[in-house]
Amino acid sequence: MVDIYESAVRSHHSTRYNDAVFARRTEWKLAPNRLTQKLRQLRAAETEILDLTESNPTRCDLRYEGARILAALSHPESLRYDPDPKGLASAREAVAAYYVERGAAEGTRVDPERIVLTTSTSEGYSFLFRLLCDPGDEVLVPFPSYPLFELLADVQDVKLVPYPLFYDHGWHLDLHAVKAVLTERTRAIMVVHPNNPTGSYVKTTEAEALNQLCRERELALVADEVFLDFAHSGLPRDSFVRNQGALTFTLSGLSKIAALPQMKVAWIVTSGPEELAAHAGERLEMIADTYLSLSAPLQLATPRLLQQRHAMRGQILERIAANIAELDAQLANQGACRRLEVEGGWYGVLRVPVTRSDEELALELLERQRVLVHPGHFYDFPGEGNLVLSLITPTQRFQEGVKRLLQHISEMP
Ligand SMILES: Cc1ncc(COP(=O)(O)O)c(C=O)c1O
Repeated sequence: MVDIYESAVRSHHSTRYNDAVFARRTEWKLAPNRLTQKLRQLRAAETEILDLTESNPTRCDLRYEGARILAALSHPESLRYDPDPKGLASAREAVAAYYVERGAAEGTRVDPERIVLTTSTSEGYSFLFRLLCDPGDEVLVPFPSYPLFELLADVQDVKLVPYPLFYDHGWHLDLHAVKAVLTERTRAIMVVHPNNPTGSYVKTTEAEALNQLCRERELALVADEVFLDFAHSGLPRDSFVRNQGALTFTLSGLSKIAALPQMKVAWIVTSGPEELAAHAGERLEMIADTYLSLSAPLQLATPRLLQQRHAMRGQILERIAANIAELDAQLANQGACRRLEVEGGWYGVLRVPVTRSDEELALELLERQRVLVHPGHFYDFPGEGNLVLSLITPTQRFQEGVKRLLQHISEMP
């Protein structure tokens, strides 16, 4: 007895709690994967790495209007605290104006009252999961797709259920596959428009089919449009913000469209059948009111920060076009690898011969060529043979990195 008691006291005082104190949702495998371990080792030894995965725009040699950005942050009103749960009206009006500018027909203006500001799209997801799901409810998510979704759902006790996209001269949504994974617990269907990393937009026919399904099964549609403005054709693509066919939540933010991830300003736009959208808006406002998470300086700066998107979008599209041209030119000189078709976004997918796992190949490239790429399984590609590259990588680095990568693959046993 004494022993047990002493050890309990000891462990308490040394703060070595038993892990039972933690919620099961936090039982993550925290050990870094092999690629991350290797990368840390090499970086610790100050080895120069050609990183072809960089998607933080502030590290990609883009030209920012620094003085203007900083000036936007010093609005005199920042000294007052006068919060609005949905976000300050001036910021929401600027977001509504963004949708008008990118091509709204008269009369289909986005109502600023249907906009809720969040600190990030990720926070937007957590609000929506809170709004739509009880613990254990399910949300359908495309795969391959952005790996953070899993964690975002996990921390909200939501179960993500993947539905596959298939590739046939571009990526497509298979409605049968979506229907096949629906259950009694499904609350929402997510689309990523365009998807990361496949770069595919949701087609009009696919959106119509999803609307019908959501209406029939009383589900919400969640559209992630952080890369919407980066269609490689340069032509504007339709947003879901005016989707009326089902209860719809459209997510976007400054992180990608203005290339300002550090500013932490994003939003959710609610649309759909009037009464349902109004009820959703009230509940969402209550969730936002619980946190009031945005700072006044950032909200007051939002109209001016949104203006930055014009300068950034042009540079980013130029960078992407240059990198795709470079990649295609190098691919034309070999027969082992090919690039998958991509319509928009910041990523490219390279199909490579399957002679080892993608992780093994990425490790080899890092160890022997000092080139960092992401193996497809990070994004849940079905099967092996896919590497993901960031197309906003500075072009010289991209050129040299791709050269080493293709050379390595051509010499592989
Ligand atoms: C598809 C997708 N959604 C959301 C995000 C996160 O955006 P935010 O910085 O607004 O949380 C990312 C970031 O890469 C993304 O790729």
